[in-house]
Amino acid sequence: MVSAGSSPTRSVPATGTARWLAQPGTVFYGVALLGFAIQAVTGFGGRLFLGGNAGWLLFIHMLGAPLFIIGLTGFAVIWAERCQFGGGGPYAARRLPLVQRVLFWAVLVFGLATVLTMLAAMLPTFGYAALDALREAHKYTALLLVITVGAHAIVSLAAKWARRKTG
Ligand code: HEM
Repeated sequence: MVSAGSSPTRSVPATGTARWLAQPGTVFYGVALLGFAIQAVTGFGGRLFLGGNAGWLLFIHMLGAPLFIIGLTGFAVIWAERCQFGGGGPYAARRLPLVQRVLFWAVLVFGLATVLTMLAAMLPTFGYAALDALREAHKYTALLLVITVGAHAIVSLAAKWARRKTG
């Protein structure tokens, strides 16, 4: 029986999923990773196994784009303060390890470059040669993004694991 004025929900310990969903930084990271996985599979899958990115594959690639953009934007806004360089400041005590911070900014730079190369190609401004160059740039920034997202995930998981071990 719950007495008047008490909050029954507060006393219930959060399960793993509930705790995960209560952290916006983790939710945005999850959304960005899902969008990234769709983009990487449809982008590189089409190029490697089907000789290009067209039809349904390109359609799915375009559906994954907003997920990736929304997730990456939220991830950037929420984690940026803990990934700053330079001394002092209100967040100094909560900063993440240096490698994690460097990789965070690298993911943002290559993520933005990957998005901008294709958004620029959609403007009615460029000729065939420039469109080809933008597509090539999209492919190589996407490759750098795959490398940095992978490295960032490994380093972040290792840091989390180390924090848990040391309590
Ligand atoms: C989120 C915004 C994105 C948009 C709007 C977008 C859009 C596109 C479009 C329109 C194409 C077809 C280009 C063409 O054939 O002319 C394409 C190709 C491609 N995309 Fe994306 N993309 C995005 C993100 C990504 C991401 C995050 C990755 C990988 C991690 C990626 C990897 C690729 C690859 C590998 C190709 C094939 C390039 C080629 O065949 O030459 N894209 N993208």
